[in-house]
Amino acid sequence: MIGERLCHAMNEQIKNELESYYIYLSMTGWLHARNLDGMAHWMRCQAHEEMIHAMKFFDHIHDRGGKVVLLNLNQLKTDWASPLEIWEDTLRHEQFISSKINDLTTIAREEKDYTSEPMLAWFSKEQMEEEATAGKMLEQIRMIESNQTGILLLDRELGARVFPAGSPLDPLAYNVTA
Ligand code: FEO
Repeated sequence: MIGERLCHAMNEQIKNELESYYIYLSMTGWLHARNLDGMAHWMRCQAHEEMIHAMKFFDHIHDRGGKVVLLNLNQLKTDWASPLEIWEDTLRHEQFISSKINDLTTIAREEKDYTSEPMLAWFSKEQMEEEATAGKMLEQIRMIESNQTGILLLDRELGARVFPAGSPLDPLAYNVTA
């Protein structure tokens, strides 16, 4: 059974992951409004991944006999000055999430919760990849920031990201006119 302290921290992490979902969905809207549809699509895929992360914690708490408690989400940023600021915020946010995964791992070790450790190790690896991706995007945007052609080419490239099959965020997965 999951310990009370780790259970509480994982419920906090469900909130953090759902806030990530909200942030990236908010960025999706901002980018769509500026006709950067490729970047918007990339962010929408990212939002989908964050919902999955939240549900991994949700299921883990439940499977370990803990109580899932959904906490209030904070009011988040809804406007950005530029795509550059979007990617700066993305990297900063992923660094914040990584620090939270590290905190969870510390608690799991202190509580000798060897069942939670492999799941948290998966998240550590995921965070390493997410920080690397966000950092690379940020550097690329910095390189081309004042070059509109470069922005449009990157936008087209990011539009190629593929949704996982059956994603509820994939516009092709549902018919809004039905
Ligand atoms: Fe679930 Fe991007 O951290």
